[in-house]
Formats: sequence, structure tokens, C-alpha cells
Amino acid sequence: MPTPVLPAVLVGIFLIGVPLLFASRPDWSPANTVTPPMPSRGAVAQTPSAPPPAAPAQQVGQAPAPAASPATDPTGTAAVWQVPDPDALPDDVFGRTVRRGRNLIAKTSSLIGPDAADPTMRYAGNGLDCQSCHLQAGTQQYGLPLAGIWGVFPRYIGRENEVRTLEERVNGCMERSMNGRALPVDGPEMKAILTYIRYISGPERVGQSLHGRGSPSLPLPDRAADPERGKQIFAETCAVCHGENGQGQRLEAAQAAETGRRYQFPPLWGPDSYNDGAGMARTITAARFVHANMPLGASVEAPQLSTEDAFDVMAFINSQPRPHKAGLEADYPDRSKKPVDAAYPPFVGPFPPEQHRYGPWQPIQDWIRANPDAARATD
Ligand code: HEC
Ligand code: HEC
Repeated sequence: MPTPVLPAVLVGIFLIGVPLLFASRPDWSPANTVTPPMPSRGAVAQTPSAPPPAAPAQQVGQAPAPAASPATDPTGTAAVWQVPDPDALPDDVFGRTVRRGRNLIAKTSSLIGPDAADPTMRYAGNGLDCQSCHLQAGTQQYGLPLAGIWGVFPRYIGRENEVRTLEERVNGCMERSMNGRALPVDGPEMKAILTYIRYISGPERVGQSLHGRGSPSLPLPDRAADPERGKQIFAETCAVCHGENGQGQRLEAAQAAETGRRYQFPPLWGPDSYNDGAGMARTITAARFVHANMPLGASVEAPQLSTEDAFDVMAFINSQPRPHKAGLEADYPDRSKKPVDAAYPPFVGPFPPEQHRYGPWQPIQDWIRANPDAARATD
């Protein structure tokens, strides 16, 4: 069954608990949730592996790991996940720039999104914040962290078939996940975002292999993902926060002003959500994220969805209407690099569009491997 961990009574407690939680902690951003610096590590603070106010997890007896315990890598290697704390920096230009970068990640909608006071600053086009997906302002292991990626760029990106800088990658999410337009590469906002990413990446991470980057991979199901089953999982497990129609839950005006965010729980589809060219619109990428992080409070150590649930529920969510990005056919000029779950044309191999959207994906991967030249062909 999709939701053994959320029987109705817990949902009830949780319905009462979450509003209380948010009433007492209106500004739910790492600014207010990071632990104080550890004495022996100077400005280094432990970041919990799940948001501290994770009421649902506690209610089902799967409290987030205590802050001091190392997170476990799915490969079996224990990896300590420590993220430097911007609040430990002095009130000087560098410290202020790092904290500005954190706010841009955590409060994107009000600073450079649709709720920005200055219309010329409205770069992001939907109600999400970067932190809607890059959890805890990008400090959460397996929650698509931004901590630790400083040393990873510039790197090859298949979508453009070229080496891309970190600025270009940030703008990739601006144009797709945020359904907006690119930030000026040399403007103060991009500089602040980069300064923040560099700072939270920490000196010891640059050039090191990263535990906890992205979200862990999942075995691909050998059947097609089932959006009908996913619809039911959504209703039982996700709608309580994300809304019956996936529209999320908007904050009251006063709370929005106070937190700098538009949503208490972000929308999963509709006009205020990510567009059809975003990474989250790809079912494999999205299933990995929700398996490791959703419902809120789940973690790699204590997932609450089965692998199949994760694929089915994201197949349902990604079959719902969302903004369209023009020009997607130009993505992945080398077609052999196109992810098998990219659900827009041109498609690689002799498979129907439905199979790219829902799987099974293994036969497509096998075909690409067996026919590299045909896969690469651009006509
Ligand atoms: C709707 C969810 C979503 C939102 C909102 C979002 N991103 Fe992303 N982002 C992703 C996903 C998913 C990936 C990984 C994509 C992939 O695997 O192809 C990603 C990847 C990235 C990466 C590369 C990370 C790496 O490990 O290589 C950066 C940098 C990034 N995003 C920055 C941002 C910034 C800055 C914002 C806000 C302006 C933002 N993102 C908003 C979903 C999102
Ligand atoms: C307890 C409330 C809660 C439940 C239940 C929950 N989520 Fe979320 N979800 C959140 C919050 C909060 C965020 C954004 C984190 C932030 O803004 O700090 C989020 C973010 C997301 C995102 C990325 C942001 C976006 O809007 O696209 C996806 C995708 C997502 N959830 C899917 C799911 C799915 C699928 C389920 C059910 C299996 C689920 N969630 C259940 C609270 C919840």
C-alpha cells in the first residue's frame, strides 16, 4: 500500500501540528534553523539531515537523525555532512554577501521573483523558491544540495552539449525550474548566489568526491510507471500539504511578507510551478528526489515511499498541466546524451513518447547503448 506510514489518525495530528509549527516558526529558513557553530570547528555547523521542524517524521517514529550523528551514504560509506554557517560570519561585506546569497536561495519569490517590489527584478517566473527543491537553502544532503558543488563546475552538461559554468547552471534552473529568465551573470544577485555556494561548499569539499550530491539513484522499475496509481498516492500522502489540486498552500499576506516566501507548501503543477523543461519534470530525476525527501521528513535512511510509489506519484504529477518552455527541441544537440525520461521530442530510438514519460526505461537505455551512432543522429 502506498501510505502505510500515514494512517488517518496521524494525518489528523499532523494537520493540527503543521499550522502550529508554522505559527511558531514563521520564517522557516536555515537562517533560523542552523545550530550554533561547533567550538572545535570554528564557523562549521552541523546541518541536520532533515528539516528540524519535521513533524510528520516524528509522528511516525522516524525522527530525523540527531544533528551530531553522521549521515549514512547509500553506498555504505559514512560521510559527515557539515556545512559552514553563514550566521557565524562577521557583519562585513563578505559576510553580508554570503547571507544575501542564502536569502536569494531561500526567499527567491520575494527577492527576484513575482513578488519583488521592483518589477525589473522579477527574474523568476513562478511562486517557488530555489529552496523549494534545494532543501534547507541547499544545505541538505540528498536534498539536491548546493553545498559541495563549488568544485564541480565548470563541467560538461549534455543539455547544451558543452562545458557550462556554475553561473550558466544557476540560470538553467532560473529558466526552467523557476520558469523565468536568466540573471545577469555579472550582477550582484548572481555574485551573491555564487559566494554563498562557495562558502557553504567549505574548503574541504573542493575537488573531493561528494557524498550526498543530488539525490541517490533508484533501481528503474521494469514496468511502466502508473499515473493512476500515482494519483491515489498523491491524494493519500501528498495532498495534505501540496493541496488537492497540487496548487500548494499559499501563505497569508502578512506571513508572506514576514517570511519572504509565497508558499508554505509549494505547488507541484499549474502556472506557479516548474515548467516542462525542468529537471523535476523528468520522472526519474523527480522520483529520486521524492523517494529521498518526501513526504517532508522522509530521508535516505528512512524513506516513506517505496521505489514504485515514488515513480508512480511523480508520473502522475508530471502528467498534470504546467508552464511550457519554448525551444525544448533544441536541447541535447547530441541526442545520445538525452536522458531517457525527457518527455519531449525529438525522441531517441524507436520508442513511443509515452515510454519516455512513464517507462519502462531500461529498454531505451539498452537500445542507446547498442546503437550509439543512430542515437546520436540529429535528423
Ligand atoms: C522545481 C525544483 C527546482 C527548483 C525550484 C530549483 N532547482 Fe536547481 N535543480 C533541480 C534539479 C532536479 C536539479 C538536478 C537536475 C538534473 O539532475 O539534471 C537541479 C540542479 C541545480 C544545480 C546543479 C547541481 C549539481 O549538483 O550539479 C544548481 C547549481 C541549481 N540547480 C541551482 C538552482 C538555483 C540557484 C535555483 C533558484 C534560482 C534553483 N536551482 C531552483 C531542481 C530545482
Ligand atoms: C508535510 C508536508 C509535505 C508532504 C506530506 C509532502 N510534501 Fe513535498 N514538499 C513540502 C515542502 C515544505 C516542500 C518545500 C521545501 C521548502 O520549501 O523548504 C516540498 C517540496 C516538494 C517538491 C519540490 C518543490 C515543488 O514544488 O515541485 C516536490 C516535487 C514534492 N514536494 C513532492 C511531494 C510528493 C510527491 C509528496 C507525496 C509523496 C509530498 N511532496 C509530500 C512538504 C510536503
